Amino acid sequence: MTGRFITFEGIDGAGKSTHIEALARRLAARGATIVQTREPGGTPLAEALREMLLTAPMDAMTEALLVFAARRDHLRQVIRPALQRGETVVCDRYTDATFAYQGGGRGTDLGLLRELEARVHGDLQPDLTLWFDLPAEIAADRRARARAADRFEREDLAFFERVRAAYEARRAAAPARIVRIDSSRTRDEVARQIDAVMEARGW
Ligand code: TYD
Repeated sequence: MTGRFITFEGIDGAGKSTHIEALARRLAARGATIVQTREPGGTPLAEALREMLLTAPMDAMTEALLVFAARRDHLRQVIRPALQRGETVVCDRYTDATFAYQGGGRGTDLGLLRELEARVHGDLQPDLTLWFDLPAEIAADRRARARAADRFEREDLAFFERVRAAYEARRAAAPARIVRIDSSRTRDEVARQIDAVMEARGW
């Protein structure tokens, strides 16, 4: 038996956090055992790599390699075992973020990213990805009010416009898996969009 793998994506400030919690509660209330986790992160090694990714200056290829190193450890220690136990994995970001941030944002060669993706998890894609979409300018406003910026969040508007465009390209290439959520709506309206997606799948 294998469980479900659900990921959340979007540019920083798109507001996925509160909805991740709500979705995890909804699925738990329906009897699923939930493993809620995040990338980069989810294991002690991957959390240490996350800290470096968010703070240490590094070149773009190093960044991509570290993201996939963290992901491999996370897959081996947390994601694959949970899915094999039949549990539902709810993960804040996954490989779509690498194509968006490292590919779109940084301009890292997509061929390299595809190669790393194939080596690290060629066999395993999420069952569903909720992409919280919001214009880069609105997301920047929301971030400015919410928190101190990390190494990615300090990037300019053009960076986040590229990240957003890369997410749209990923969605267009995998429309059955990646569902766009209009994150410019109120929190309740966003929650209703997510409910509708889940109901359409009978989840
Ligand atoms: P995020 O998950 O948004 O956490 P928080 O809400 O605490 O800011 O931040 C993680 C950052 O890592 C985010 O700016 C995107 C970046 N990131 C990548 O660049 N590539 C990746 O593959 C992943 C998973 C994240």
